[in-house]
Amino acid sequence: MLEKLDELLEKAQQELAQVADLESLDTWRVTYLGKKSDLNQLLRNVGQLSREERPLVGQRGNEVKMALEAAYEARAEVLKSAHLAIGLEAERIDVTLPGRPVRVGHLHLSTQSLREIYDIFARMGFQVYDAREVETDYYNFELLNMPPAHPARDMWDTFYLADTLLLRTHTSPGQIHAMRQYCPEPIRVILPGKCYRYEQVTARSEFMFHQVEGLAVGKNITMADLKGTMYNLARQMFGVDRKVRFRASYFPFTEPSVEVDMDCIICRGAGCRVCKHSGWLEISGAGMVHPVVLKNGGYDPAIYSGFAFGMGVERPAMLKYGIDDIRYFFGNDLRFLRQF
Ligand code: DAH
Repeated sequence: MLEKLDELLEKAQQELAQVADLESLDTWRVTYLGKKSDLNQLLRNVGQLSREERPLVGQRGNEVKMALEAAYEARAEVLKSAHLAIGLEAERIDVTLPGRPVRVGHLHLSTQSLREIYDIFARMGFQVYDAREVETDYYNFELLNMPPAHPARDMWDTFYLADTLLLRTHTSPGQIHAMRQYCPEPIRVILPGKCYRYEQVTARSEFMFHQVEGLAVGKNITMADLKGTMYNLARQMFGVDRKVRFRASYFPFTEPSVEVDMDCIICRGAGCRVCKHSGWLEISGAGMVHPVVLKNGGYDPAIYSGFAFGMGVERPAMLKYGIDDIRYFFGNDLRFLRQF
């Protein structure tokens, strides 16, 4: 009996030494220490042994059991820490690796250009006045001296939302809002924002674009003030050696009306493709506020006068950066937008 116990101990110990993972360790435990194990069977039957054998086998059996239990615990300890180490190894991270860059957005080119224009006019004492994008026919046309069926309305192809409700075709209706709010105080504001035109989209024209309107109203405002303002704008935006000229034009809301040109920034007046060989680039429509418009804004044209202008935002940016298609601005192609 005692020999059998020693054999069992030796065999169990040898096998335990081979056990390499927690799963086989458990199998080993069931085999050698489980309820149905040989050792347990043997200990349970000790009572059937002879009186002399009984204490010896009982004692030795318990010793073997304790030895196996201790060996099991020790092995389990070793395997568990090895298991943990494998887990840690698998989750190992290299903290010295460079991180993945997070892309930060930036201002859209139109917004950048708008802000540059705000800065230039702020230095000349113009405040920003925000006006609505959804307008009535009354403000967009009528109060700007274009009664229904006025032929000049054809200059603006219009998106109508309802009978008399539309998307503003220009920022000019904001002039009336500003005048009605400030009258009879003097005014010096710019009115920036989106405008909409029901037009064929081409490389030169979008159905939505930005304008900046300007309005100055007060006593003794003359065309010289307008010219100085436009001259300053051109020089600050495109360089101090810019030349500016006024060309007679027509707008219903100004009298006289002009088109403001500056000498071509590409060929400096010599003539090239960009300026269509004229040597000049158009930067703004402008003029002296029409007496009817002043009156509609609440100002007495016998006492007050004013100048106004309306300039594009995308066009000058196209000139500045050599962009040949306005559709890039709102095409949302990041390859384009990221360049600015
Ligand atoms: N509203 C005109 C347009 O969109 C531009 C313009 C011309 C605005 C003359 C003015 C102005 O204020 O005086 O074509």
